[in-house]
Amino acid sequence: MTLTLTTCLLFLFPLLISAHPTSRATTVTSTSKAGLAGGGDMAQFQKTGKVSWYYTWGLSSGEDTDLEFVPMLWGQKDVAGWTDPNNGINATIAARKPTAILGMNEPQEKGQSNLTPQQGADMWKTYLEPLRAQGIRLGSPAPSSAPSGKTWIQDFLTACAGGCTVDFIALHWYDVNATHFINYLNDFHSTFNLPIWVTEWACQNFNNGPQCTAPDIALLLNQTQAFMDSQDWVERYAWYGTMRVGDLNINSLDAMLTNDGKLNDLGEQYIGAEAPKTSGASPIGTGTGGARPTGSGGGGLPGLPGNADSYSSSWLKTCFALVAVTLFQLF
Ligand SMILES: *[C@@H]1O[C@H](CO)[C@@H](O)[C@H](O)[C@H]1NC(C)=O
Ligand SMILES: *[C@@H]1O[C@H](CO)[C@@H](O)[C@H](O)[C@H]1NC(C)=O
Ligand SMILES: *[C@@H]1O[C@H](CO)[C@@H](O)[C@H](O)[C@H]1NC(C)=O
Repeated sequence: MTLTLTTCLLFLFPLLISAHPTSRATTVTSTSKAGLAGGGDMAQFQKTGKVSWYYTWGLSSGEDTDLEFVPMLWGQKDVAGWTDPNNGINATIAARKPTAILGMNEPQEKGQSNLTPQQGADMWKTYLEPLRAQGIRLGSPAPSSAPSGKTWIQDFLTACAGGCTVDFIALHWYDVNATHFINYLNDFHSTFNLPIWVTEWACQNFNNGPQCTAPDIALLLNQTQAFMDSQDWVERYAWYGTMRVGDLNINSLDAMLTNDGKLNDLGEQYIGAEAPKTSGASPIGTGTGGARPTGSGGGGLPGLPGNADSYSSSWLKTCFALVAVTLFQLF
């Protein structure tokens, strides 16, 4: 192999300078489905490469980052901003080149975007469907996990009468049992026969039962994330949430950041930098399977390069890949 890392970097440098200044480095792959629900404190989540994208429930792309930004049309209240000629969705597309856009937030919830399926279909046809002409994929309105959610999506598709092209189903889930989460995703997948994005989920009891402890959450995150990483049809997911403990409006133990904005143990677990601290998890949420992780002892990290050689060979591969991608974009 005569092309060394240095040579490759020498080729790459002028190529990158002549490439599109706004093109984004991150691509979402089967090992980087994880995203961030929120737009701040993002850099530290990038150290393992497991996180590749983020969204902010709107058009505001937050702090500067090379993570892929996914805009969302939250609901009726955002239509004026969405259609603004200078700061609306077209300006965001020009600046951030999103590959996907998300539809409305929890449409069947009165306290959220609160849309009838017909209103949802009308909004979709007016503000979302036309964007597909630019090659952008569209995610369904994301229902909450109340039983009305699946029916809302079915009624929405009926109201669309073939006029809404949904490229993937987005959904939210809040509960305490990982087995139920997996069943829920399987049901949506088999019902709609589309890829799934889980754009919010957390260990949160909305049914008057006990709230999850930190070990319960670590276990539920581990089991649900492992399931989604292993399913081709789960394209992306974002835990709720990428907030500081004091800013989270549900069980604060679901936060991935301390009040100083640093990754806590759950945040480190989410990106694969720390083993889950499940010791003492209660039966809640563990399901009946035998695949329960055995606590936080002995947690080596799978898959991270362990010495300088593997770093430089992986950097060389990365450099080759960047040259190829850059040439492809140029010509
Ligand atoms: C965005 O641009 C397209 C043309 O590419 C145009 O048809 C559409 O009306 C614009 N949408 C908004 C909301 O400005
Ligand atoms: C789940 O936990 C096990 C045991 O610590 C670990 O090997 C595995 O990588 C974890 N999976 C995820 C997706 O965090
Ligand atoms: C989790 O769900 C599974 C499947 O319904 C059930 O067998 C198990 O008892 C549940 N665990 C708890 C603690 O509710």
